[in-house]
Amino acid sequence: MNDRHPIGCFVTGTDTGVGKTLASCGLLHALARHHARVVGMKAVAAGAEPDGQGGWANEDTLALRAASTLAVPPELDNPVLLPDPMSPHIAAQRAGRSVEIAHIVDSYRRLAAQADAVVVEGAGGFLVPLSEQHTGADLACALDLPVVMVVGLRLGCLSHAALTAEAIRARGLRLAGWIASRVDPAMLVPEENMAWLRQHLQAPLLADIAFQAHPDARATGYVLPQEWQ
Ligand SMILES: Nc1ncnc2c1ncn2[C@@H]1O[C@H](COP(=O)(O)OP(=O)(O)OP(=O)(O)O)[C@@H](O)[C@H]1O
Ligand SMILES: [Mg+2]
Repeated sequence: MNDRHPIGCFVTGTDTGVGKTLASCGLLHALARHHARVVGMKAVAAGAEPDGQGGWANEDTLALRAASTLAVPPELDNPVLLPDPMSPHIAAQRAGRSVEIAHIVDSYRRLAAQADAVVVEGAGGFLVPLSEQHTGADLACALDLPVVMVVGLRLGCLSHAALTAEAIRARGLRLAGWIASRVDPAMLVPEENMAWLRQHLQAPLLADIAFQAHPDARATGYVLPQEWQ
């Protein structure tokens, strides 16, 4: 175990499907250039498919594992796996399960104890319900990690980005940086949107991920903050 605290961050996004997994995998590759033991964590996954070894796994978890240099048991890198691909609170209800934040935090701590860097991908957007009582924001607070926000560049993203940044900071969490994910190749005036985001988010731009016809997490061009190098 390392004698210093591992690097950790919580990756959220302006919405579901904005590129959090691709961005998180890219961040893992970037961190792996500086640190030996980097690992991704999909804290709450909704939607499972065969894992190729007779079991079930979530596709985000599999992608994060492929970008990690440290292999860990599934209960650590994906403590909550729900079968149905829908909002976690509903998926949990349908599965007769409950999503316990304390359980996820315990998994994170055990994971962090083995790692130099941990990238936690949240589910959906920042305020996604995890249960009747809690949201993804409560999980981010319980983990007490700096937050990285993925902005899916498309019409409407400016308000979503500003709302998400405000919600992060309103909880006393630090927005450690943001990532532009150019998911819509037909978006009008993307550079003007980028200029607004750069000016208003007041956090470093960690990566500007081009539209990729064949997404490749190794081709995401990160500039890591000094503290993560
Ligand atoms: N820069 C990009 N260029 C092209 N396609 C992209 C880009 N970023 C993401 N995608 C594609 O968009 C889809 C959604 O991306 P991704 O799964 O990373 O989103 P997400 O935010 O992690 O979603 P979820 O909320 O389900 O976890 C995927 O098919 C992914 O390959
Ligand atoms: Mg994802």
